[in-house]
Amino acid sequence: MITFNNVCKIYDSSTKKIKAVDNVNMTVEKGQICVLLGPSGCGKTTLLRMVNRLVSITEGSIELDGKDIYSLDAIELRRSIGYVIQQNGLFPNMTIEENINIVPKMLNWDEDKMKKRYKELMEMMGLNPEEYRKRFPWELSGGQQQRIGVARAMAADPPVMLMDEPFGALDPIIREHLQNEFLRIQRTVQKTILFVSHDIDEAIRLGDTIAIFNDGQLMQYGTPDEILAQPKNQFVEDFIGDDREIKRLTLLTVKDLLAKKNKINETINLQKGENQVVIDLDTDLRTALSMLLSSTPEKALVTDKSGLPKGMLSIADFEALTNVHPQSLKTMVH
Ligand SMILES: Nc1ncnc2c1ncn2[C@@H]1O[C@H](COP(=O)(O)OP(=O)(O)OP(=O)(O)O)[C@@H](O)[C@H]1O
Ligand SMILES: [Mg+2]
Repeated sequence: MITFNNVCKIYDSSTKKIKAVDNVNMTVEKGQICVLLGPSGCGKTTLLRMVNRLVSITEGSIELDGKDIYSLDAIELRRSIGYVIQQNGLFPNMTIEENINIVPKMLNWDEDKMKKRYKELMEMMGLNPEEYRKRFPWELSGGQQQRIGVARAMAADPPVMLMDEPFGALDPIIREHLQNEFLRIQRTVQKTILFVSHDIDEAIRLGDTIAIFNDGQLMQYGTPDEILAQPKNQFVEDFIGDDREIKRLTLLTVKDLLAKKNKINETINLQKGENQVVIDLDTDLRTALSMLLSSTPEKALVTDKSGLPKGMLSIADFEALTNVHPQSLKTMVH
């Protein structure tokens, strides 16, 4: 668990003072991903680097599992926190294996243990351990380098991870692929993660919670659904975009909707020629809505993984979930 108590950071140069972080209070629960979201210069990196004491705190305190980070030994603290630097920060003169082994080496792991861990991490990241072992960072694509950056931060299996835009500067397809891989890995490793992003879609996809910042101040802290359903002020509303009801749909599946409407296993009444569209129960509602809108009539048969019919879905069902009339949803999707 990470707790921020009235945290402030003032950068004090000879010419001016910049309040980069302004009285931040929040708690990130153990095993959860909190996305720090906001425009460039709002203080995300500063807040992150205060947690591993790379940036000092001007006022307030930060606690890890209830212990003030300044009561802990700085070296011990940094060993228990994996840090993925903005723009991956791999050492160009070290091979991929050497880069990944930096922290294990500092911890004096024996060779066998390091070799085993290197192999395990590369496999986790979907990269062939042998193929990349002796290569240098510049011999890898941007996406591969970012994966090595994540693997390096995870090497000694720290319970806490600080990730500064680890998937920034990637094209959308690779980015989505890495996000999905990251979520898959997190389901088993269950680390407490602060993840910096300036992309609302990434925040919705990855965050158990989202903290939105502007000018160093925490504007809103909540689950993606809370933030999308009830933006607290004009800044948040503008930042998340006017299609927030559509974005909310990506958080839920067809199964959630049918369950909410008590429609799972209701009698399925098919007219001949109807229901060309078949939707899996686990499809997210944003995708399901697009599928419905491209079918005539706007109805779909819902099935489970083995193809067994589970219910029917129509546009009207969406009314139960959003604050927007189903007809308006249609225009928002197109
Ligand atoms: N070492 C420093 N000395 C003085 N000012 C700094 C320093 N580092 C950051 N700042 C200022 O503090 C503010 C917050 O910077 P920070 O790097 O935390 O923002 P950010 O949200 O990470 O931005 P980005 O999305 O561009 O990475 C900015 O106004 C920045 O210019
Ligand atoms: Mg930054």
